[in-house]
Amino acid sequence: MLSAEKNQQLTQVGPGTPMGEVLRRHWHPIAGIDELDRNPVKAVRLMGEDLVLYKDLSGGYGLVDRQCAHRRADLSYGFVEADGIRCHYHGWQYNAQGQCVARPYEDQIDPQARQKCKIQIKAYAVKPLAGLLWAYMGPLPAPELPDWEPFHWPHGFVQAVFSDIPCNWLQTQENSIDPVHFEWMHANWSRRLRGHTGGYAPKHLQLAFEEFEHGFVYKRISEDTNEQHPMWTIGRVCLWPNGFFLGDHFEWRVPVDDENTLSVTWSFIRVPREREPYVQSSIPTWTSPIKDDTGRWITSHVINQDIVAWVGQGRIADRTQENLGASDRGIAVLRRRLMEDIDDVQAGRDPKGVQRDPARNQRVFLPSDSRDFFQHGLTLADYQRHPKWARLLNHFIFHAGQPEWVQHAHAEATGVAIQPISVIDL
Ligand code: FES
Ligand SMILES: [Fe+2]
Repeated sequence: MLSAEKNQQLTQVGPGTPMGEVLRRHWHPIAGIDELDRNPVKAVRLMGEDLVLYKDLSGGYGLVDRQCAHRRADLSYGFVEADGIRCHYHGWQYNAQGQCVARPYEDQIDPQARQKCKIQIKAYAVKPLAGLLWAYMGPLPAPELPDWEPFHWPHGFVQAVFSDIPCNWLQTQENSIDPVHFEWMHANWSRRLRGHTGGYAPKHLQLAFEEFEHGFVYKRISEDTNEQHPMWTIGRVCLWPNGFFLGDHFEWRVPVDDENTLSVTWSFIRVPREREPYVQSSIPTWTSPIKDDTGRWITSHVINQDIVAWVGQGRIADRTQENLGASDRGIAVLRRRLMEDIDDVQAGRDPKGVQRDPARNQRVFLPSDSRDFFQHGLTLADYQRHPKWARLLNHFIFHAGQPEWVQHAHAEATGVAIQPISVIDL
């Protein structure tokens, strides 16, 4: 349980709020590189700020205020030029630093106008990496954009999936350090959703949470595993401050505002050995629905099930009303560490997880029980026999609604057609 005041401190994300300032010390994935190739201008809302993301005609990215400085027209209806974005209303143009570089009529009637113009709109840094565009909204100089080792794994078919989640970021991130939910929400609930009325998944027997530089590792032993199992020897990573790394995919929970979160999933599927060498030319990104035609939350896929739990907790979970138990040790540890981050930022220090040394930001290692397989691969026959990896090869288990064009890309890369699933079987 938390006091109302602490709950507010941890959940508010706007400029100047304690947690908003912590989150502004980190880079966040906000869109797909291929998305901007399809449409170069995108309205985005991040941490309570309305912005527009664009790719200009020179290939440069910008993230600037949504409203034009002239008379406040919506720059997400603007169009891109060689250097920046131009407002559709009277043609004022802004570069990636937010400087107004052209005011066509004013420049026409006064040749000095351009030099004299000091107009500036809000602008933030954007960088492309691993198929995603990342934004940094904090004080400069910006820290390193984390270069995780899985971004360099060879022979993989990668895709990134976005979902718009109507709840606060913190309850989605608390899911990253909550091992017991796997047994109930994914394993047991899926069995019921598939129509089985009896039988339960193996129970959790032991949990451990260990802090390291990039977050926390959680470990678990259940009835069907022991201390030699990778879930105990390697575990899963609650990636700091708003990510989750599960060995074969990343999830990030990017705050849109206090009541909305952008869920971003980055999934790596190794192609069978027979398909090597495989080099992916473009990483597809797509947006997954979270409700079905009847307006109910979708429950068929892994992260859709997580989403049902997150939104079920309310727009901002009321932590004054909860009753934490032994399974919530990780939740308590996460909250405590975030409160320390708030103290650090308020004292002028970097919070946990900020890296400023470029030499220490190359192929940064994260614990993964999938590494051996993803580095060395399997023949198609062995792959199809493997209880875990065959599932990833034959289905897209994480999000509902994978578009046909992405399924085609998967089949082209792997040689295996995606089969639909009604409810996951873990
Ligand atoms: S409102 Fe943008 S140029 Fe006039
Ligand atoms: Fe989950």
